[in-house]
Order: sequence, then structure tokens, then C-alpha cells
Amino acid sequence: MSVKAYLGSIFYLTDDPAVIKAPDCYCYWPDGMLVCEDGMITAVGPRDEVEKTLPEAAEIIDHSGSLIIPGFIDTHIHFPQLDMIASFGEQLLDWLERYTFPEEAKFKDPAHAKECADFFLDELLRNGTTTALVYGTVHKQSVDALFEEALARNMRLITGKALMDRNVPEAVRDTTAESSDRDNRELIERWHGKGRLGYAITPRFAPACSDEQLTLAGKLLREHPEVLMHTHLSENVSEIDWVKDLYPTAKDYLDVYDRFGLLTNQSVFAHCVHLEGQEFQRMAERGAAISYCPTSNLFLGSGLFNMKEAEKYGVDVGLGTDVGAGTSFSLLQTMNEAYKVCHLRGHKLDAFKSFYLATLGGAKALNLTDKVGSLEVGKEADFLVLDMHATPLLSRRLKHANTVEETLFVLSMLGDDRTISHTYVAGVCQHRKS
Ligand code: GUN
Ligand code: ZN
Repeated sequence: MSVKAYLGSIFYLTDDPAVIKAPDCYCYWPDGMLVCEDGMITAVGPRDEVEKTLPEAAEIIDHSGSLIIPGFIDTHIHFPQLDMIASFGEQLLDWLERYTFPEEAKFKDPAHAKECADFFLDELLRNGTTTALVYGTVHKQSVDALFEEALARNMRLITGKALMDRNVPEAVRDTTAESSDRDNRELIERWHGKGRLGYAITPRFAPACSDEQLTLAGKLLREHPEVLMHTHLSENVSEIDWVKDLYPTAKDYLDVYDRFGLLTNQSVFAHCVHLEGQEFQRMAERGAAISYCPTSNLFLGSGLFNMKEAEKYGVDVGLGTDVGAGTSFSLLQTMNEAYKVCHLRGHKLDAFKSFYLATLGGAKALNLTDKVGSLEVGKEADFLVLDMHATPLLSRRLKHANTVEETLFVLSMLGDDRTISHTYVAGVCQHRKS
């Protein structure tokens, strides 16, 4: 493959701004050059320096005037909830019964799953998301469909079939704990490590999984330490009460997963809105990660995630859109809501931290920092070109932005899918705004 050199302003995080203070946590070159070969980043830096090292045959692609940043990482999203996003009026448990489970039942049909997978992945790319941790339905054909389409786009995508063998309608229930374990094993064998794909063992949430199913999930995770574990935790007050009824002797909600061997450094827990201090502490000790889903937590009336506590205990956090409880595929819009939620909690989420959560922080949560999340040499060439004139208001406001931090903050407040002008996946342009 040929060498390609991209011109533009270049920005990416190298560390968590809450730990390594700005400006030591990022790289920024207003007149930069990013060089890619065979889907990998081979050079990056100020244009005048990098240009000198280019081979004669390099092709130059001019994105001057635009901002080049790493592809976004969505650490929690449901692909089968596409057609019931924006469903009115319910909190979590009623929302699942009334809208979600009937919708997910449709994924028994592989043709429906394929059509949705196709749209879903294009929508991720249109919004600048190049890596995602995704829920399938209980049906293994939903996972096959998503992996097939992600492979065709060469995306770094992690998914798994939802495990759910109790307290859910029959149409979305596993036949037995053993049958779900067989499905998981078959899917890991077929897909994990193929192209840029990865598998996640995906218990729906504790109330929907029998002890037997969670036991088998823990056993499988021990046998396959290379796969992720992805579930929901402590999202909604009624959900937490239900878990208390089901597990009266558990220390807390997190302890339920821990009892079954599901609290490890491969674990990603979505929401964590109502965690207690000792739960943050145990998550940090085990190296587990949180997916912070502000648009969903607001939409379902679940509550306000406490980012400051996560920072205090040193728990890894990424951002999740959580579509279809979340209301946008856009990580820029998700940053917008994340900022407001932190504000309500008395905490100022700065723009460096927001972009960290949507890129390198997400990569850290998914244990992928050796591959994606920044534009350092040796990483996979997943990057975005941002249109600084995407809307008249954005263009006007950015004229008054005096620092890169202010520019990023304005992008995170006013940006959305219209801001994503190009999405490059492993060095190939997979979305270009028309
Ligand atoms: N908890 C269990 N299932 C779900 C789901 O589909 N969405 C959200 N937001 N929470 C859940
Ligand atoms: Zn979810």
C-alpha cells in the first residue's frame, strides 16, 4: 500500500488530563502532518519536520483548515435498539419491557439483523466512531450479522450475544444457560481476533441472568482472558432494589458480578450512576472500567454519574452513547451532555478530559491503548477530519476561540455528525460528508 500524508491541524491526547496536567497530556500541531502506510501511523508532527522525511512517492492529501483527531471510541451501545431510539416516557425497567424487548425479538431474523447492522455501522462512521463495544441481542445471528458488516468495513468492533435466561419474555430468552454458553463458545471461535474484531461476554444485567448462566460466563472469561466482559451496573434505583431482593446477602450490586468471577481488568460496566465508594474502590483495584453514558442517564431519568468519584478512586472511564436509551450516535453530543451532568455535580469537565474520554480513555477502558485512541506512531490509522465550518454558528464562534482548549470545548458543545467531514478507518476513508 502507498504512503499517504495528511495535512491539517492535528490534536490528540497522550495521557489523562486529570492525572497529567495540560499541556503535558496532549500533542497539538496547528500546521501538522500525519503519515500512514498499510493502515498504520508511521509519522506525525509539525509539517515542516515530517515533510522532510517523506518518500518521493508519498501522496499528499490536503485537509488544511480542518482539525485531525483520533477516531471516536464508543464504549457502550446497543445495535438492535436502532428503531426504538427516542421512545417516550418510561424509566429503565418499563422501557425495557415496553419498547426494548419487543424490538430485540425481531433479530431472530438474520435478514433484519443484517439490514440493521449495515445501517448501524454506517451511522457510527458518519458520527466519527471507529471503535465500539456493542450489545447484540440474545440471538447469535445478530452477532454474526454485526461482525460480518464490521469486517467488511475493517472496523475495530467488539460485540457479543446478550445473555438473558430469566425475567425476560420468551422471544428474547436463552433456552438454557448451557445453550447460551455453547453459543458464546461458537461465536468466540468464529470471530474473536478475525480482522480487527473482538468478542465480549455480555450478560444483559444481573436480574436477567440465572446464577447458572453467570457462573458459566465467569468460567468462560477465565478460559478466555483475551475477551472482554460487558454488562450494565447500578443504573436505576428500581433496578438496584430488584438486585438487592434477588441477592440479599451481596455486599452491593458490584459484588453480585464479582461472586461469579466477572469483575476483572477485562470488565466494562455501563452506567454506574449510583455506585458507592467501596464499589469504585474495588473496580479500581481490579482494573475494571466504567462506560459513562450521559445522554442515556438523562433520557431514562436514571441519574447523574459522579465523574469526580471515579477520578478520586482512579477507575478507568470511557464515554458511551448507549443508543437506544441514549439519544445520539455522536460522541461530540455525548461530550456536551457529559459536561452538563458534571456541572450539576459541581465538577467542571474540561475539554481535554472530554476528548480524552471519547478517544484514549475509551481505548484504555477497552484495553486497546496499544492499537487505537491516539495518533502516535505505531497505532492503527483511525482518524477524523473535523469541519470547523460545519454550521454557520460553529464557524462564527470558532473565530473567537483563542486556544486549542477553547476550540475543543466549542466543538464539544456545538458539534455533531455535521462536524465529521471524513472518517478514516485503518488508513482508508470510510465516510466522507457529502
Ligand atoms: N439494563 C439492561 N438492559 C439495558 C438496556 O438495554 N439499556 C440500558 N440502558 N440499560 C439496560
Ligand atoms: Zn446499555
